Amino acid sequence: MPKIRDASELDAEACVAIYTPYVTDTAITFEIEPPSAAEMAARIATAQATHAWMVLEDDGRVVGYAYGGPMKPRAAYRWSCEVSVYLEPGRRRTGGGRALYEALFERLAERGFRTAIAGMTLPNDASVGLHKALGFESIGTYRQIGWKLDAWHDVHWRQRPLAVLPDPPEETR
Ligand SMILES: CC(C)(COP(=O)(O)OP(=O)(O)OC[C@H]1O[C@@H](n2cnc3c(N)ncnc32)[C@H](O)[C@@H]1OP(=O)(O)O)[C@@H](O)C(=O)NCCC(=O)NCCS
Repeated sequence: MPKIRDASELDAEACVAIYTPYVTDTAITFEIEPPSAAEMAARIATAQATHAWMVLEDDGRVVGYAYGGPMKPRAAYRWSCEVSVYLEPGRRRTGGGRALYEALFERLAERGFRTAIAGMTLPNDASVGLHKALGFESIGTYRQIGWKLDAWHDVHWRQRPLAVLPDPPEETR
């Protein structure tokens, strides 16, 4: 039975294995070099310290992950976060993406975040479909904003609320 749990640095290698084919073979991410396990462990630790990082485990094996991070470094943005989700290639449309995001958004809301932002290189029907299904509304599309794999790519952005906060909002925790 698949289960979702908080990630630790021990999940770094599994997350690298999931992420690497998207880095090397697609423009879904704009990274060009796959991160090392040590770099991925640092990313997990950083996300866990300030935002959240969840993994999807099936039969004791990590098969997907989702995480949140700062949207932009300027202080007034600090209640908004950027989120991403990756499943191992081939694992599609079995509810993993939705389950990971729902768990992630619960964590981010608990920590006091207000808004989630997600960017997706076009075309990506699965990602656009998942974000729409989870209530993300379209903000717009950067045209031909990144060069990878011998082509320019558009990046579409969506946002959704995570929590209703008072004015002024409490600090995130
Ligand atoms: C995007 C991704 C995480 C979606 O995860 P998933 O487990 O396949 O999605 P789910 O099964 O949870 O689907 C949830 C909803 O998303 C939508 N959706 C998922 N795949 C879709 C597709 N191929 N086309 C249209 N809508 C889709 C549907 O509304 C679906 O609900 P339904 O199955 O009840 O109709 C997964 O396809 C993936 O890892 N893709 C590669 C990496 C990637 O693109 N990550 C996003 C970076 S921006």
